[in-house]
Amino acid sequence: MPSTSFKLNTGAEIPSVGLGTWQAQPGEVAIAVEHALRSGYRHVDCALIYQNEKEVGTGIANSGVPRSEVFLTSKLWNSFHDNVQKSIDQTLADLGVESVDLFLVHWPVRLVPNEGSELFPMNADGTRAVDKDWDQAKTWAAMEEVLAQGKAKAIGVSNWSIPYLEKLSQTWEVVPAVNQVELHPFNPQHELKAWCDKRGILLEAYCPLGSTNSPLLSDPELNQIAEKHGVSPATILISYQPARGVVVLPKSVSKGRIEQNLKLIDLDESDMEVLNGMAAKGKQQRVNTPLFGWDLGFDDWYPEQATAKLARGGYNKTW
Ligand code: A2P
Repeated sequence: MPSTSFKLNTGAEIPSVGLGTWQAQPGEVAIAVEHALRSGYRHVDCALIYQNEKEVGTGIANSGVPRSEVFLTSKLWNSFHDNVQKSIDQTLADLGVESVDLFLVHWPVRLVPNEGSELFPMNADGTRAVDKDWDQAKTWAAMEEVLAQGKAKAIGVSNWSIPYLEKLSQTWEVVPAVNQVELHPFNPQHELKAWCDKRGILLEAYCPLGSTNSPLLSDPELNQIAEKHGVSPATILISYQPARGVVVLPKSVSKGRIEQNLKLIDLDESDMEVLNGMAAKGKQQRVNTPLFGWDLGFDDWYPEQATAKLARGGYNKTW
């Protein structure tokens, strides 16, 4: 069976499956979290920008599962890079906890809050209000302070490519425990995984199912593997990540799917070969490219296209 937990570089254990809460609406997420914890989940992945952390806190409280048994992750939002304390304090108050188990820099991008918006500020010309001169080393130093204060038991990053990590490694005192990125067979990020493995940074997979309107679930090769094992394609996608040493964070607000998503199966070598090779065969595709209009350093990140789409108003409500 694939590992049910991994060890962080802090020595702490992290359950290999966690409940994702992005796009879980405030009205439904408390019930989803409560149900997940009652069904056996011991790991919930949150973020300030999901704007539902109060309800996540309610779900944890209602589950009756002690706080000490739940691995809780949250993330610093982009518009708080110059005030990390404000972001973590808000999160702790909303979740109703004294500390989180893991706190991540959500994106290596600082947004400059303005009168129009604290969370999603725009410039007058319709582009995102990105602080292009911000030094991420400052953000990381503030994250290290959060760790020292005990407000987070471990710190890490999210959406960081190799070039961004290389740069940060020149100044970090604490090596990030985790890098949470979009991972599924259409975007396996093998090189990033090798880079992080070498330095003891654990990868976590968000959008492991391909998010809403998933292009993966109908993939014929994936369905063949699912049929072979007599399980759903989602079970294959979820089992794939721990099998390659990656934490997996499927999001669901449906009780049946929440339960299904905790069940991992064994994949054999030939399954892994197919899943590992899909992107290289021409299926490479991201499902989540927030349009900051900023180059995040991934091979397939196209800042020009993102900027053009942003100018046309083609970003979704949240991002
Ligand atoms: P729902 O919340 O209604 O279950 P990802 O984790 O890749 O972001 O994907 C989340 C999307 O996949 C959501 O739309 C979620 O819908 C759906 N989903 C979650 N679990 C399953 C499953 N086992 N089978 C099919 N779709 C799922």
